[in-house]
Amino acid sequence: MSSDTVTTETVEAPDFPMTRGCPYHPPAGYESLRSKGPLARVRLYDGRPAWVVTGYAETRQLLVDPRLSSDRTRPDFPVLVPRMAAAKLTALVGMDPPEHDIQRRMLIPSFTVKRVNTLRPAIRRIVTEKIDALLADGRRSADLVPAFALPVPSTVICELLGVPYADHEFFELQTSRMVQATSTAEEAAAASAALVGYFDDLIARKEAEPGEGLLDELIADRLATGQLGRTELASIAMFMLVAGHETTANMIGLSILSLLEHPAQLAALRADEGIASSAVEELLRFLSVADELQRVAAADIEIGGVVVKEGDGVYLPNAAANRSPEVFEDPDTLDVRRGSRGHLAFGYGIHQCIGQNLARAELEIALYELARRIPTLRLAEPIEALGVKPGGSVQGVFRLPVTW
Ligand code: HEM
Repeated sequence: MSSDTVTTETVEAPDFPMTRGCPYHPPAGYESLRSKGPLARVRLYDGRPAWVVTGYAETRQLLVDPRLSSDRTRPDFPVLVPRMAAAKLTALVGMDPPEHDIQRRMLIPSFTVKRVNTLRPAIRRIVTEKIDALLADGRRSADLVPAFALPVPSTVICELLGVPYADHEFFELQTSRMVQATSTAEEAAAASAALVGYFDDLIARKEAEPGEGLLDELIADRLATGQLGRTELASIAMFMLVAGHETTANMIGLSILSLLEHPAQLAALRADEGIASSAVEELLRFLSVADELQRVAAADIEIGGVVVKEGDGVYLPNAAANRSPEVFEDPDTLDVRRGSRGHLAFGYGIHQCIGQNLARAELEIALYELARRIPTLRLAEPIEALGVKPGGSVQGVFRLPVTW
């Protein structure tokens, strides 16, 4: 591409991030970006231009390209919304090799399919308790965000890490301040400092009185042996807690909403737990809640007919890749039986989600059990009244009022 063309596109570039019109469909603007080619120019809130990748093949290619950096401490790392730079998510997802790989290797054994399968009975118990509580309440109506979608993954990640669930109101509030696009930079910085401080104290308490959980294992095996420092461990723990409940909570909420809006799909799941795994893969593809993966080019990269220059910000919205018509037949249709393969909802390459097996188990159990035990579940308000989370956040709805 000639530099003239780049200049013209920069002037005309649309604003990014974009907010969804319908909570379960990507923003309409993604299609007009796609029509410009696999990579298109956008403008960030501070006026900085950046690239958005909508091509499926190019997204995969770039996510394994070592010339794209995830290092959020780089001064040229592109900031989508002001709170992002302040939220200090600098463990794992915000690091490059070799430091990234060292942290990742410490955590991987706790999230294998085999390890997660041992957690399934605990997940089913937690889901059953929440549904029992809903049914015991005579009102036959509830907001499923605070009553189900949030507490299920929050309780699970607490049990896994060894974090007291009694502290959930504190960390859920801080997490939402860190990740909501509407938070100011000051709010996000204060929230992330509060969470790191919380983990610093918790680590000290656990050193004095060890308990059971991943955090206790990391203290014994890595902190005590000097392989991890206290601040590094606190920041890993904070990221695991945030990543472990925020994405899954939004995914549970948005999945329920989508199934309620597609009653034949919900009926298919209710009738057969055997399709729960296929349904979850399709919902992951269809909803792509952790949209907008972000990177910065550490060198010039020629791809998709353009040159991404060193220092350019690059966004890879998996909601665009996951609706690619050349990869997924009829991509805008929700079909719980198709068992989508090759979707990028958990990312791709070295940062691919560590918690994906855990998230799948939680989603399968939560969605099937809710469908089975409350068969008359329906939305209590029109979908337009629910409020879509703005672009630059994990995608989801703020409220999910239902009745049965
Ligand atoms: C449906 C739920 C979830 C979705 C959609 C999701 C999505 C993602 C995505 C897209 C990435 C890649 C980010 C990037 O490349 O920049 C990622 C990374 C990560 N996720 Fe998840 N996630 C989910 C649940 C979880 C859970 C339950 C955990 C458990 C602790 C978790 C822990 C992580 C970690 C630690 C990383 C960073 C991995 C690395 O950088 O090596 N996630 N996730």
